[in-house]
Amino acid sequence: MEKINSLTGMLDLISNKADKSEFADKIFLTEKYLKKIFQNYGMSEIRTPALEDTNLFKRSVGDASDIVNKELYSFNDKNDKNIVLRPEGTAGVIRAVIQKKIDLEAHKFWYMGPMWRYERPQKGRYRQFYQAGVEILGNHEGLPEFEMISLICSINQYLLIDKPLIKINHLGDNKIKELYCEDLVKYLSPLKLNLDEKDQNRLKKNPLRILDSKNETTQNILKDAPKINNYISNSSKVLLDEIIKTFSPECNIQIDSSLVRGLDYYTGFVFEAISDDLGAQNAYLGGGRYDNLSSQLGGKNLPAIGMAIGLERLSTLVNAEEASNKLLSFIILSEKINPKAYKIAHDLRLLNENVKIDIQLSEGSLKSKLRRASKDNADYALILGDQELESETVIVKSLKESNSEQKSMSIDELNGFISAIS
Ligand code: HAM
Repeated sequence: MEKINSLTGMLDLISNKADKSEFADKIFLTEKYLKKIFQNYGMSEIRTPALEDTNLFKRSVGDASDIVNKELYSFNDKNDKNIVLRPEGTAGVIRAVIQKKIDLEAHKFWYMGPMWRYERPQKGRYRQFYQAGVEILGNHEGLPEFEMISLICSINQYLLIDKPLIKINHLGDNKIKELYCEDLVKYLSPLKLNLDEKDQNRLKKNPLRILDSKNETTQNILKDAPKINNYISNSSKVLLDEIIKTFSPECNIQIDSSLVRGLDYYTGFVFEAISDDLGAQNAYLGGGRYDNLSSQLGGKNLPAIGMAIGLERLSTLVNAEEASNKLLSFIILSEKINPKAYKIAHDLRLLNENVKIDIQLSEGSLKSKLRRASKDNADYALILGDQELESETVIVKSLKESNSEQKSMSIDELNGFISAIS
């Protein structure tokens, strides 16, 4: 029969020692670390649905953005309502906060989950990908900007990220953004025919996005274009300078006046973190301030700033390792199902949470089970056969020390041995 494969750009993440790249394991480890860091920053978890009303993203991410224009997984449900698999997490968080009527309070939220964008898949770019996000709500420009950059520096530090660079910029408020856009269009319009088709389209619909065009001719033309830093207020410039002063040199951070971000809702402070080790898709996180989104979605005026991390990208840069808990492979050698043997293993598991106890569930000889334990990189094998059950003992065999003798221990001795493992 014909086999069914996963959809293009959608990965199966399987924790598997046979997978030499350890891609999935790295993602799972990254999630664990991030959750811990978010909690250490006093943030609360929020989970919103994967499916939302399509209008939510049209009104937030914006009609002119690539995400809404070309990349939405949207369709009609059985009731003919147009719904969408969320392409990002921020709009859903704000929708939920408005719906719960908590849009006047301050919050610090984190979330993790899959997002969907119908993009052309390539290295580091998928159609289903995972984001970990943070949204700080209810505070005006100032300290929350510092909190965001502090969080990114901590992530880079704790996860031992390869070659990180944080880029920051300021887009001014709505008025400044508009004025700057007008001047940019005025400058680019006479040169329009030199731009490629994509940038010509952006000139009509989303001129700011031309600033991060990858086209070399466009980049050359932009050298003489008006610069956003000549438009923003003095206090915005001071904020950028203070952030650079506070976090360098420990944290590799610089101002990039061409950084604009691809979603419409940003005003004010924006940022991205990149690494040269990632290739073409080099941003492993991005975010910024979006003070108007709540009122745009029918809520109260709720100043906000946030970011999202691409977990597939970040995890390839992580050098931190899993805390190495000792692994004990529990081998039961009994012809028939033996609940008494299982109960001994069950009780051991309650003794020390730093020890992993893997009970081998499949049938087989002692030799094959010991081979399996070594393949799993276990530190000890605990062997329990009919004879041991009779005498209420367990054989403990070290698999890491060569020539080590195996020892027979009473259940009490074994309890003491396992409790003492650190
Ligand atoms: P974004 O820049 O669209 O921002 O996405 C954030 C990160 O998600 C990117 O830097 C990248 O690492 C990852 N990412 C995006 N698309 C893909 C893809 N197709 N495959 C793999 N990874 C991808 C947002 O989504 C905003 N909601 C961030 C934010 C939160 N702003 C304020 N609050």
